Amino acid sequence: MGISIGMVGLGNFGSAFAPLFKAHPLVDRIAFCDCEPDRVEKFAKDPFFADKFNPRDVYSSLDEICRSDLDALVIITQPWLHAPQCIQAMESGKTVYSAVPLSCLPDGDEVLDWCNRIIETSQRTGKHYMLGETTCFRPQAMFCRRKALAGEFGDFVYAEGEYMHDVDNACCLRVVQRERTESRVGSEWPAREEAYFRRGKLASPMNYPTHSVSGPIFCMGTRARKVAAFGWRNRTGDSYFRTSDFSNVTALYELANGASMRVAEMRELAGQLSPLENETFRIFGTRGSFSENTWYYNGRTNEHDAIRPPQKRLYSDAELFDPLPPEVREAFLELQNIQSGDLQNRDFVPAGHGGSHPYLVHEFVTCVTQGRRPLVNAWEAGHYMAMGVAADISARRDGELTPVQDWGYAPEL
Ligand SMILES: NC(=O)c1ccc[n+]([C@@H]2O[C@H](COP(=O)([O-])OP(=O)(O)OC[C@H]3O[C@@H](n4cnc5c(N)ncnc54)[C@H](O)[C@@H]3O)[C@@H](O)[C@H]2O)c1
Repeated sequence: MGISIGMVGLGNFGSAFAPLFKAHPLVDRIAFCDCEPDRVEKFAKDPFFADKFNPRDVYSSLDEICRSDLDALVIITQPWLHAPQCIQAMESGKTVYSAVPLSCLPDGDEVLDWCNRIIETSQRTGKHYMLGETTCFRPQAMFCRRKALAGEFGDFVYAEGEYMHDVDNACCLRVVQRERTESRVGSEWPAREEAYFRRGKLASPMNYPTHSVSGPIFCMGTRARKVAAFGWRNRTGDSYFRTSDFSNVTALYELANGASMRVAEMRELAGQLSPLENETFRIFGTRGSFSENTWYYNGRTNEHDAIRPPQKRLYSDAELFDPLPPEVREAFLELQNIQSGDLQNRDFVPAGHGGSHPYLVHEFVTCVTQGRRPLVNAWEAGHYMAMGVAADISARRDGELTPVQDWGYAPEL
């Protein structure tokens, strides 16, 4: 028997995930929830969902859907709402998926408190929390994770993670900000943001650090210990940055595995970078290294190994992905073909943020069906946020070496 899933938040991003969750063969029942009735209605009336959707499964608030008998909730609401909503979902007995980040607020102490509470709630209730971090399910991350688990990097020596998203580039952040505040719930944000601003709590790209820090941390399976960071302040008086401290932050972390890692979170820089450049990471080890889809390997374990010819291979994204179970691949292929109108196509190409979307869906669904803890669980997700908070503290203190809070790893089940 399959599982039942409720989609909470059917705005721009949630709308992209609803068909994938419905298409997954282990999902038997899908429910829709949004405070905006037209956003729910769009899905409730779509014949694609009819075989797994009962009209009773329409909800207009989180409170209402938390009282349902659904197994799990997928929360893709505005980023400042995720943490309390995920806690409410776990308290009501649901396994929960959260869009990134765990919480996005311009107050580091408050963010750390939410991380604490998410971890504590997941542990106490026994309900799993998954962060839908697209970076961790990009093909590059899958490949590096496999290599790391096989020990082929040797010892890790250095890593980089970057999220270069200029405010005006593709997926214009000004438009995103406007659209997120258009809904009834969203319209409450500007007043809250102003209140933070008046208390001296200024925003920073490190309030949303997950796309840069998560790749190397997740693949290497390590934690950050300390950081020294520097910030750039907008000089043009751009209204987008009025409530921000920094528009760009660069950070150097010392990691628990002995490597160092340079991270850049940029919202103000020229250049429409290619998808491989604007959200990317590189990992260097003593034996193997990965950079821009290329794997370098010297196989060296001691000085005599240096005589071996070093290997270098450029991979296509298709070669980097983990395989999906055949029935899941088939179901996603069918959805892809319905969406593209090419029903004869046999080539499934994972799409959405580097192809991560179908994999995020598969990971969450299998966690629910197997009662397994997600790979990007509360402990992992909390650490990404702590890395951003520590970088902000350091940048505001002119690069002062700052410890990164660490809750350790999720306990074995
Ligand atoms: N690469 C990525 O991982 C990535 C990319 C884009 C967006 N996101 C994340 O996706 C999330 C959603 O972004 P979006 O652009 O779709 O936002 P959006 O404003 O378009 O949609 C959010 C929806 O949530 C609904 N909502 C909020 N609270 C609710 C409640 N209590 N009950 C029912 N419905 C509620 C709102 O009415 C709205 O329709 C954000 O947190 C963002 O960070 C992640």
